[in-house]
Amino acid sequence: MGNHAGVVRLMVAYALLEIALTASVPANYAKEANAALQFMTGLAESRLIGGAVAVQKAGQLVWSKGFGYASEELDVPLEDDHIYPIGSNTKFYTAVAIYQLHEKGLLNVSDAVNGYIDPADFGLDGPWCPKVHGQEELGCQEPTFKQLLQMSSGILPSDNMACGYPNTSWTPSDWLWPYRMNALNTTYGDASGATGNWLDGTASAADLLRFQELMKAPLLFAPGSQYCYCNTNFNLAGYVVERLTNMTFTNYLNEFILKPANLTNTYYWIGGQGMEPLGIRKHVVSIPGYTTTFKQGASGAPAFTVVNRIPWLEMDLSAFAGAAGAMFSDTFDLLKWYNLFMTQPEVIGLSKESIAALTQPLERIPIPGLSAFFAQGVVVEPLSSKGKKLLYTGGIWGFLAHIEYWVNSSDPSKSDAVIFFSNLNPIIPADSNGACAVQSLQNSSTISLEASACTDSPGGADMTNYVTTHLAQIFNITGNYSSS
Ligand SMILES: *[C@@H]1O[C@H](CO)[C@@H](O)[C@H](O)[C@H]1NC(C)=O
Ligand SMILES: *[C@@H]1O[C@H](CO)[C@@H](O)[C@H](O)[C@H]1NC(C)=O
Ligand SMILES: *[C@@H]1O[C@H](CO)[C@@H](O)[C@H](O)[C@H]1NC(C)=O
Ligand SMILES: *[C@@H]1O[C@H](CO)[C@@H](O)[C@H](O)[C@H]1NC(C)=O
Ligand SMILES: *[C@@H]1O[C@H](CO)[C@@H](O)[C@H](O)[C@H]1NC(C)=O
Ligand SMILES: *[C@@H]1O[C@H](CO)[C@@H](O)[C@H](O)[C@H]1NC(C)=O
Ligand SMILES: *[C@@H]1O[C@H](CO)[C@@H](O)[C@H](O)[C@H]1NC(C)=O
Ligand SMILES: *[C@@H]1O[C@H](CO)[C@@H](O)[C@H](O)[C@H]1NC(C)=O
Ligand SMILES: *[C@@H]1O[C@H](CO)[C@@H](O)[C@H](O)[C@H]1NC(C)=O
Repeated sequence: MGNHAGVVRLMVAYALLEIALTASVPANYAKEANAALQFMTGLAESRLIGGAVAVQKAGQLVWSKGFGYASEELDVPLEDDHIYPIGSNTKFYTAVAIYQLHEKGLLNVSDAVNGYIDPADFGLDGPWCPKVHGQEELGCQEPTFKQLLQMSSGILPSDNMACGYPNTSWTPSDWLWPYRMNALNTTYGDASGATGNWLDGTASAADLLRFQELMKAPLLFAPGSQYCYCNTNFNLAGYVVERLTNMTFTNYLNEFILKPANLTNTYYWIGGQGMEPLGIRKHVVSIPGYTTTFKQGASGAPAFTVVNRIPWLEMDLSAFAGAAGAMFSDTFDLLKWYNLFMTQPEVIGLSKESIAALTQPLERIPIPGLSAFFAQGVVVEPLSSKGKKLLYTGGIWGFLAHIEYWVNSSDPSKSDAVIFFSNLNPIIPADSNGACAVQSLQNSSTISLEASACTDSPGGADMTNYVTTHLAQIFNITGNYSSS
């Protein structure tokens, strides 16, 4: 489909939607909603995004909208309540599940994980005894649950990611090379999922970990000493939930989190239902994702190309991403989850102490390149106003799901939030001028290359920051809740 025709169609669609929109926006936010609409429409028209946004001010949903296409092939527009894979946002729910077990006395988050696993589940001959690479003489170094949830356990990443960033410099001479998931190509299939589905929907967290063989690998560093973003931490947490409750992670989430929290549009992987390759089934699952790339064209304008539609929806996410990334949701439910977490934790069986622990930033070990810190399953940015912002970006092939949630410290039920989900996951080359081009829409036709929109984070996270930062500005979300 030519982009040009697409733009024309989009403009017609927006003209119609704008009328409908006015009715649902609180009158006192009409001006902001209009500015946000212009900003997002411009991005969508230039084919820089497709997705859904939602904005909350002082606890009230003040604006939401879908942009671009759910399916280009079928010419279906995206709507604000479409359901997306939310990738790593799953980790927040997993962390909550561990704290629920802590509150029930089934474990203590300060305990070493060793006491809660069956070595046979991972093909180990004896008790799990992880040693730090290069410091084997120290003997077994046992991470705690808290260290898993804080990404400080030292467990090796399973894919070609070095603590959250792709590491292209790894070679077979690096000691960790044999432990990488890619080395298991032939069984697993390539990362696009084209030949995935290796466990046919019946995998448990233990199957995943056994398959990855990471429980046999050395640790990258002593538990608690460094930060390393790595899915394995949460897969192991998910395994313990399954083992202690004798439930599948899916059933556990449904019974103890999704039902009590009334998250009716949130799912753990549901086994391919409704995932026709080009299908759109609102309220079931899901929309096609696209990977995209930008190149700066000769005229200085960013040229945008859809590289491919992601075929992975046919693959089993519970087996691949598991408790680290296999959930689906829409913008409204993710917002509902954060609101409930901050204001009614008793509904999901958590005390105020657990909420405080889960959102306690690990300031001792900063996340490289961010002014925010990992807490437990969620990232926390302390604000100069002494408040804090919770945030997360989930990225899974073809999709991004980003939330920023400013906690109103005088009254959490009056918190602000901006959410942006996208079914375009831009592949943004890391070079400074290469492709991090974002149209500046306030002045309609200007194109600018904004360095601030181009962090060193590949995979599209900079796009989510760009969008949410602008929307926060438009809606005057400052994070300043001081009453003085
Ligand atoms: C934060 O909550 C307080 C107490 O309810 C409220 O007065 C104030 O307006 C809220 N702040 C913002 C920026 O919404
Ligand atoms: C959990 O363990 C910590 C450290 O050993 C201890 O201080 C705390 O009291 C324990 N909590 C519970 C609920 O047992
Ligand atoms: C990538 O791996 C190499 C070799 O192990 C290491 O020296 C380098 O620090 C890693 N880069 C990043 C960004 O982690
Ligand atoms: C994995 O498979 C791809 C092709 O599908 C190949 O290019 C790559 O070298 C393989 N990686 C490893 C570590 O075997
Ligand atoms: C675990 O659940 C399965 C099936 O739900 C049941 O057959 C089994 O007895 C349970 N085991 C324990 C220890 O509760
Ligand atoms: C649960 O949420 C749905 C909307 O997703 C709403 O219609 C329903 O009233 C809620 N039920 C309860 C018990 O809060
Ligand atoms: C927050 O707002 C108050 C007035 O409401 C102001 O006095 C204070 O300087 C602001 N703080 C910051 C960090 O902007
Ligand atoms: C838009 O144009 C005005 C006036 O020329 C300028 O001050 C402003 O910086 C421009 N905004 C952007 C985002 O380019
Ligand atoms: C933005 O919000 C702050 C409080 O956070 C308030 O003092 C200021 O007047 C607001 N600005 C506008 C333009 O509404």
